[in-house]
Amino acid sequence: MTASATKKLYIKTWGCQMNVYDSNRMADILHPLGYRAVDTPDDADMVILNTCHIREKATDKVFSDLGRMRDHKNIRKAKGKKTLIAVAGCVAQAEGDVILERAPYVDMVFGPQAYHELPEMIIRATGERVINTDLGTDSKFDSLPADHAAQDGPTAFLSIQEGCDKFCTFCVVPYTRGAEYSRPAEDILNEAKRLRDRGVVEITLLGQNVNAWHGDGADGLGGLIARIADIDGIARIRYMTSHPRDMDDTLIDAHRDIRQLMPFLHLPVQSGSDEILKTMNRKHTADHYRDIIARVRKARPDIALSSDFIVGFPGETEKHFEETLQLIRDIGFTTSYSFKYSARPGTPAANMQGLIPEKVKDERVQRIQELLFAQHTAFNTACIGQTLDVLMDGYGRGESQLHGRTPYNQAIHITTDRANFGKILPVRITAATATSVSGEIVA
Ligand code: 5AD
Ligand code: SF4
Repeated sequence: MTASATKKLYIKTWGCQMNVYDSNRMADILHPLGYRAVDTPDDADMVILNTCHIREKATDKVFSDLGRMRDHKNIRKAKGKKTLIAVAGCVAQAEGDVILERAPYVDMVFGPQAYHELPEMIIRATGERVINTDLGTDSKFDSLPADHAAQDGPTAFLSIQEGCDKFCTFCVVPYTRGAEYSRPAEDILNEAKRLRDRGVVEITLLGQNVNAWHGDGADGLGGLIARIADIDGIARIRYMTSHPRDMDDTLIDAHRDIRQLMPFLHLPVQSGSDEILKTMNRKHTADHYRDIIARVRKARPDIALSSDFIVGFPGETEKHFEETLQLIRDIGFTTSYSFKYSARPGTPAANMQGLIPEKVKDERVQRIQELLFAQHTAFNTACIGQTLDVLMDGYGRGESQLHGRTPYNQAIHITTDRANFGKILPVRITAATATSVSGEIVA
């Protein structure tokens, strides 16, 4: 490949880690066509906006960004250069027609199950505007390139499961990502080995319902993790996002038995009220969740726990909300995410009675975050003085700044030689905030 044949590819990613994985794979697919990923849209030959539809705010951001992409395309056009603009991901899946209508400068719109067809779509886009929102029954994974040409750094995401059959009443995922699909174990193990060969030491297994994974040849997610742990060179394994209903004994035991499985669990509960959990169609109660956590803690006493919460779901009274706060007090989370309920078109909850006024949602989200932030801060502060193994997974702003992750998934900033990038080193924690810690490498 000559330098002049190289084209600049800018991918902007919103939303979950599955989108990050998809964006990385798009870069891998486009690598043989001469595209090289760049960090800013400046002078990019192709721009892909990989979008998220989970809440209204996320969707709005796409349309405001699209305006900037039109300007970008016009500036390049004035210089006689062509620019391909693509919208990918869940907004593309759900609102592809609207995007093409509202944004005539968009060349391609494709959903999360169609991006493996990017090379064909690029050819088609020379003569027409392309829309591909096929949810497909064939797996895109079979068509993705074996090579992770665009992989960079010691950590990688690996999608093992996609889609969802749980149909929580608030969630668009079953409609944008389609039915539940588990990749075969062999494919996953091969991909893990190829990532290892590229220098990856930490793999995060991804799925909308990752612990519902039921591919062949292994005993659920716990069995799969055991097989990945057998791959030489993979020092750390994580997984997300899980559903309480799928926390089986093998997976819980894996937290006790598998050294490489990091002591961190993101297990969204959404609400602490049985009545709200029922109307959300979560298929479990608050006590069921408490029981799972007790069993996980028995297996791995130091496990760090994380969750997602939705406040202001239709019908949520002050009593229901107080039950959520109580569950948080009972369990204690080291990190978590809380969202105001956002009605999503086409979901059952969008037609429910008992909408909660915005003012009440604002007040509740503030209260829940106050409680959660206090817990996050307390956990991080309690780590001061401890020595934790840190994987140096990124570069900080300064010349001698690295970013890393502790086993508990805490973000950490360290002043050290950049040559330490990619290493796992013992670090003594010296300071903490609600969202990160800092420390010094122990000589
Ligand atoms: N409104 C608010 N939050 C939502 N989430 C999913 N759908 C909605 C919605 N309609 C949150 C859930 C989920 C996380 C990824 O996003 O908490 O776990
Ligand atoms: Fe959405 Fe519920 Fe499926 Fe999670 S489990 S992806 S919240 S439908």
